[in-house]
Amino acid sequence: MASASAASEAADPSAGSPARLVVLVSGSGSNLQALLDAARERGDAYGAKVVAVGADRNDIEGLRRAERAGVPTFVHRLRDYATRPDWDAALTESVAAHRPDLVVSAGFMKIVGASFMAAFGGRFINTHPALLPSFPGAHGVRDALAHGVKVTGCTVHFAEAEVDSGPIIAQGAVAVHDDDDEDTLHQRIKEVERGLLVDAVGRMARDGYRTEGRKVYIP
Ligand code: GAR
Repeated sequence: MASASAASEAADPSAGSPARLVVLVSGSGSNLQALLDAARERGDAYGAKVVAVGADRNDIEGLRRAERAGVPTFVHRLRDYATRPDWDAALTESVAAHRPDLVVSAGFMKIVGASFMAAFGGRFINTHPALLPSFPGAHGVRDALAHGVKVTGCTVHFAEAEVDSGPIIAQGAVAVHDDDDEDTLHQRIKEVERGLLVDAVGRMARDGYRTEGRKVYIP
């Protein structure tokens, strides 16, 4: 790992081994699948590989995708912990055990806490189905549609304590059609989102990155 003083660390392309990704999911895991496919199809040339998948619930397709790919999984359900900080500490410990270079929230629908951000801040990436800073939160597609926007999209960004607020790494635009509903629009956004996430993570892993204030630079 090469470090940069201003903010972040990046995988060191000269190190030769792929950057280690831990991916967090809560649902179907199609973005996770795109990362698994990129590493499988492109091998070390992709620059990153998924070493573990974590979830906040059992019995989801995201976990089954990981299992089919032979990737270890872990689950921490909020309801199984006395307090939210206890849950956060357990999640942090499980992620840390896999020594990630980057942690990717790919449809992980829980807000992590202070321990998690202390451990992984600056290398914790989220993907969101809207053009931030517009339409943050759990219903980015529905909110954009309700607002009547003509163009929406997706954002890959660094996660910070405030939801959907961190420095933006990459964005993709998607036109809204007159006859769209939340599902049709989300499906088209996800097609763009998967490519955006795979490209951004790969470039960050291969080429490194730095952040200066709100600006993220990938050489
Ligand atoms: C993605 O569109 C992601 O942006 C969104 O959930 C979907 C997960 O799809 N995340 C959020 O809305 C977070 N606020 P996937 O499980 O098929 O990858």
